[in-house]
Amino acid sequence: MILVTGGAGFIGGNFVLDWLEAVGEPILNLDKLTYAGNLETLASLKQDQRHVFVQGDICDRGLLDQLLAEYRPRAIIHFAAESHVDRSIHGPGEFIRTNVEGTYALLEAARAYWSKLEDAGRAAFRFHHVSTDEVYGSLGPNDPPFAETHPYEPNSPYSASKASSDHLARAWHHTYGLPVVTTNCSNNYGPYHFPEKLIPLMIVNALAGRPLPIYGDGRNVRDWLYVGDHCAAIRAVLAGGREGETYNVGGWNEKPNVEIVQTICTLLDELRPDPAGPYARLITYVKDRPGHDRRYAIDARKIERELGWRPAETFETGIRKTVEWYLANPGWVANVQSGAYRDWVVVNYTAR
Ligand code: NAD
Ligand code: TYD
Repeated sequence: MILVTGGAGFIGGNFVLDWLEAVGEPILNLDKLTYAGNLETLASLKQDQRHVFVQGDICDRGLLDQLLAEYRPRAIIHFAAESHVDRSIHGPGEFIRTNVEGTYALLEAARAYWSKLEDAGRAAFRFHHVSTDEVYGSLGPNDPPFAETHPYEPNSPYSASKASSDHLARAWHHTYGLPVVTTNCSNNYGPYHFPEKLIPLMIVNALAGRPLPIYGDGRNVRDWLYVGDHCAAIRAVLAGGREGETYNVGGWNEKPNVEIVQTICTLLDELRPDPAGPYARLITYVKDRPGHDRRYAIDARKIERELGWRPAETFETGIRKTVEWYLANPGWVANVQSGAYRDWVVVNYTAR
């Protein structure tokens, strides 16, 4: 079996569903269930014996040792993290704890377990560290996209904590020989995305007739990848990636934020027209995020060259699927919008 951390979050949850459908190998899913963890995403697996869920913290070394000894996974895919830049600005402590100390605990537990495996198991083992393009910092308008060789220049507490975890993963390979692979991926979007991030926030706000808050001038550029394509990339790297290597994963799809929001409004105008008028009337420019990175772009040629992976979705197909999913799943949305989510909206937006 494989061990997945953070498998109740957005990408981890999509990965668990995708993996069981595409590969079928059993999964041990370790997740603390922070505000971002949502077992409702995995409701369809309730009777599925191939999915074992354990609520726990990756910082808990005793628990990690016990789970590894009991379930003996052939690979670890490490998604668990604090992942939202705005939250990292308001409170970086949890980012250091989970992303840095948690990754350290997981690497040490993995090393202890892996070093006692018999030869074949040790050679085949993988520690797949899931990371972000934000570790590379911000690009100018005419800079080439991030290649794997780009220097690390993280600018937010979130990206600095992820950069630290990447360095730890790298060092555990170089120093101890742990078979680590790392992927650095651009912004994901798709089903089960918590509505604190740009795309799901805009969809749920528009449907509720609330303002669509665009930071600064709305010209910040991100590369967007449909989450199912990210899951396929991870499967490809796990199967054929060279140990010690990093692979950049992206959608070949750079867009300024304002264009993303306009596209969502146009799709909603078509799929769920609002008698009050076009959704774009709700667009509101708000104060910028401090230290807001201007542009991310990914050069994903290495993973294509070595492993044959390319995104299957264009932005047009992926965003339509995503909007349709949110329209078809109002129950999921209503449930995540309770409790901690509302508190967060007050902290982040009332003073803007
Ligand atoms: P998410 O915030 O939706 O989910 C994170 C999950 O980790 C949650 O289920 C949460 O409960 C769990 N978790 C948090 N702290 C934990 C701890 N201490 N112990 C155990 N579980 C814990 O995040 P996501 O968007 O799914 O991102 C997953 C990974 O992918 C992260 O490592 C992130 O840095 C990386 N990534 C995300 C994106 C993106 O666009 N969302 C892009 C590139 C890389
Ligand atoms: P986000 O989804 O938070 O991802 P990241 O900061 O990790 O790239 O934000 C994507 C872009 O959208 C980023 O440039 C910030 C911007 N943004 C807004 O303009 N308004 C919002 O309400 C949010 C959440 C993000």
